Amino acid sequence: MIKRILNLFPIVAAVLVLPFGGSVRGNASPTSALEVPVNPVSHPAPQQPLPFSHQLHVAGLHLNCRTCHANPEPGKQMTFPETSVCMGCHAAIATGSPAIKKLTEYSGSGQAIPWVRVYTLLSGVTWTHRTHLQSGVKCESCHGSVSELPEMREMSAVTSMASCISCHRSRNAGAQCVTCHAWPK
Ligand code: HEC
Ligand code: HEC
Ligand code: HEC
Ligand code: HEC
Ligand code: HEC
Repeated sequence: MIKRILNLFPIVAAVLVLPFGGSVRGNASPTSALEVPVNPVSHPAPQQPLPFSHQLHVAGLHLNCRTCHANPEPGKQMTFPETSVCMGCHAAIATGSPAIKKLTEYSGSGQAIPWVRVYTLLSGVTWTHRTHLQSGVKCESCHGSVSELPEMREMSAVTSMASCISCHRSRNAGAQCVTCHAWPK
């Protein structure tokens, strides 16, 4: 907890000192960085327990994805941040806001925030973030320009089999059934 706060201290200091706000929206469309198709039918953002904005925290405050999304062993998942990461700033920032009061309650209770999942694969598909990151595929290639989203939504069709296969073909990665399924043996 203390270590987290110390790690975040330079960012907290910058946030407190630097004026910011106004437009954090870039000119590019939220889909410009994608290497997979946009979902043909728009998927609205689910109702989340807290109104967390990637646009504000990423484009506005220049936080790195990895500050909040670690990739622990075995490397499959990016995971969601511990509330202590949030409290590194929110112990002091926007403490009067109802949303931050709720965040502080989650943190105090030691309960993980019950975020509603946005991108999900069918079980039985072989998947790992680690190999993709190691071969230089960017978060934005699969999830779009997250920094422009005030609310996270499933904008890309990355979880569909066709999207996986078409990128694998274009990047010369394996595209046999066994690359992504346990069958045929
Ligand atoms: C300050 C912390 C923070 C930073 C920085 C951050 N995120 Fe997140 N991210 C979250 C939280 C909290 C959630 C869950 C709430 C939501 O879906 O908005 C989330 C959700 C997501 C999801 C949805 C996952 C799912 O399936 O439910 C994706 C994708 C994502 N983030 C990608 C990114 C990328 C890419 C970056 C960098 C460009 C980034 N995030 C930076 C905190 C952060
Ligand atoms: C090759 C495409 C691809 C790339 C690159 C990618 N993701 Fe994902 N991401 C996915 C898929 C597919 C899922 C759904 C996985 C599942 O259901 O287990 C997902 C799920 C997630 C989740 C929620 C589940 C979890 O893994 O804990 C988060 C958070 C997330 N991604 C963040 C990121 C961030 C941050 C980056 C860059 C550091 C990134 N992703 C890079 C395709 C990708
Ligand atoms: C580097 C510092 C920093 C970190 C880390 C951080 N935030 Fe923030 N957050 C801010 C700032 C600055 C604002 C804007 C406050 C304002 O508008 O007065 C903000 C605003 C918010 C708001 C909107 C508050 C309101 O009602 O106006 C929510 C909700 C929020 N953050 C949640 C989170 C969550 C959840 C996390 C952890 C996943 C997190 N924040 C991590 C700095 C941070
Ligand atoms: C944007 C491009 C892209 C997308 C989209 C993508 N992949 Fe990949 N995938 C790659 C690349 C590049 C590699 C690395 C190939 C290598 O290193 O030989 C890879 C490797 C893999 C591997 C091999 C992992 C290992 O450890 O050997 C699996 C399994 C995989 N991807 C599954 C998926 C699944 C499932 C999806 C869709 C949900 C998907 N990929 C979407 C580019 C992509
Ligand atoms: C690059 C990864 C990838 C490859 C290669 C791949 N699939 Fe898939 N497959 C997926 C993903 C991801 C899903 C889940 C789609 C979803 O969630 O909607 C899936 C789902 C399926 C499903 C339906 C769901 C189920 O598990 O019952 C079938 C059937 C299927 N694949 C067959 C195949 C066959 C046959 C091949 C070889 C010709 C193949 N797949 C190759 C990624 C892949």
